[in-house]
Amino acid sequence: MKILHTNLRTGLTGELAVPGDKSISHRGVILGAISRGTTELTHFLLSEDCLSTIRAFQDMGVAIERRDDHVLVHGAGLNGLNQPRLPLNMGNSGTTTRLLLGLLSRQDFTTELIGDASLSRRPMRRVTEPLTQSGSAFKVSARGTLPITVCGRPQSAPIHYRLPVASAQVKSALILAALQADGVSTIVEKQPTRNHTELMLRAFGAEIEQRGLEIKVSGRPELVGRSLKIPGDLSSAAFFITAATLVRGSEIRLANVGLNPTRTGFLDILRRMGGDVTVLNRSDDGEPAGDLLVRHAGLHAVSLSSQDIPGAIDELPLIALLATQAEGITVIHGAEELRVKETDRIAVVTEELRKLGASVTELPDGMTIQGPTPLSPRETHVVDTHGDHRIGMMLGVAALLSRHELRLRGEDAVAVSYPEFFSDLDQLLSAGRPVRP
Ligand code: S3P
Repeated sequence: MKILHTNLRTGLTGELAVPGDKSISHRGVILGAISRGTTELTHFLLSEDCLSTIRAFQDMGVAIERRDDHVLVHGAGLNGLNQPRLPLNMGNSGTTTRLLLGLLSRQDFTTELIGDASLSRRPMRRVTEPLTQSGSAFKVSARGTLPITVCGRPQSAPIHYRLPVASAQVKSALILAALQADGVSTIVEKQPTRNHTELMLRAFGAEIEQRGLEIKVSGRPELVGRSLKIPGDLSSAAFFITAATLVRGSEIRLANVGLNPTRTGFLDILRRMGGDVTVLNRSDDGEPAGDLLVRHAGLHAVSLSSQDIPGAIDELPLIALLATQAEGITVIHGAEELRVKETDRIAVVTEELRKLGASVTELPDGMTIQGPTPLSPRETHVVDTHGDHRIGMMLGVAALLSRHELRLRGEDAVAVSYPEFFSDLDQLLSAGRPVRP
């Protein structure tokens, strides 16, 4: 169990470059593998999830070299993947699983995908059903979860599908299948979700058109490898943005963080709550990015509904934490997707924040949070990741506000997306200045 930082006497200060974006790192390997030539990825995220993607493609015969956060993918082309000898182990990674279900459904070999206990509870029919409708075949358990056998077969039929859920993973799975069709496929989103697959595929040479919620993908493109500098992950930066907002005396700068508008919902919500975040040094090298200057700020409650959710989906546990310190009642609706993440994040956030005395009520599709409340352990000094990386890091930030000792059970989970999280937090705390009373 990890002893968390509590009873702070200083704010967070200094500058940090958070590791590379997880969604873009996964896609860099996948698109590099199915392109011709070499793809060079710098500032690649070396976390367990992204290593699952690298290993899966190595198991399918793709040569991938790695030196620190520098990755070279020697592309095999869309028809150059080999049948793996053993089942592909997806670990904890929903993104790897769903994107590979789409890609492998139209390859000419059979593959079995397996995963850890948490991933093996997550719904996969949202991907296998639309692909089955367009001619693919899977062996899926009655529960619709991993393990799944992908009975890959090349097919030329384009895909036409209207997504019933707002999910970039499902959308991307369908796009990767559509690349292997003859002619143009049409995918219509329920709501806009992160568009890294579309942006990156275009940069690799694919023809993808977007009009409103409709995406048109032309089949059988000539994909060519390229160099990509991956920006810092806003979803990782969000933990420090939350910490600096909540802890008095804080002022931090986070360098070169990805600011793709389909991902910046957290910053928009934080500003609506009164947060103080300034973007400096904007750049756009295919993916917008910039430095973020974050200062401590007093907050007020906010009401969120379904249109606020996809752009901040992974940051909602942090919005809940921020709301415990905001004046008034924060209401989050339309967030039922949180129930099928690495854990049921509505249930787990409610349970863990309540251990610290927060006033959180679970709703079927979200939460209400009455703030502000002091956060300190009540009956137990142990909080729990429940095996979920983002819950672990959220609790590491919540602990900063506690006056009493707190321990974290299951801290290893953070390695799924941010292995250096606790040492990076230490760095911002050790540069700290005294907290003003
Ligand atoms: C991701 C999409 C989101 C997000 C996940 C990463 C991606 O999942 O929660 O962490 O890289 O496409 P959904 O598509 O299930 O919403």
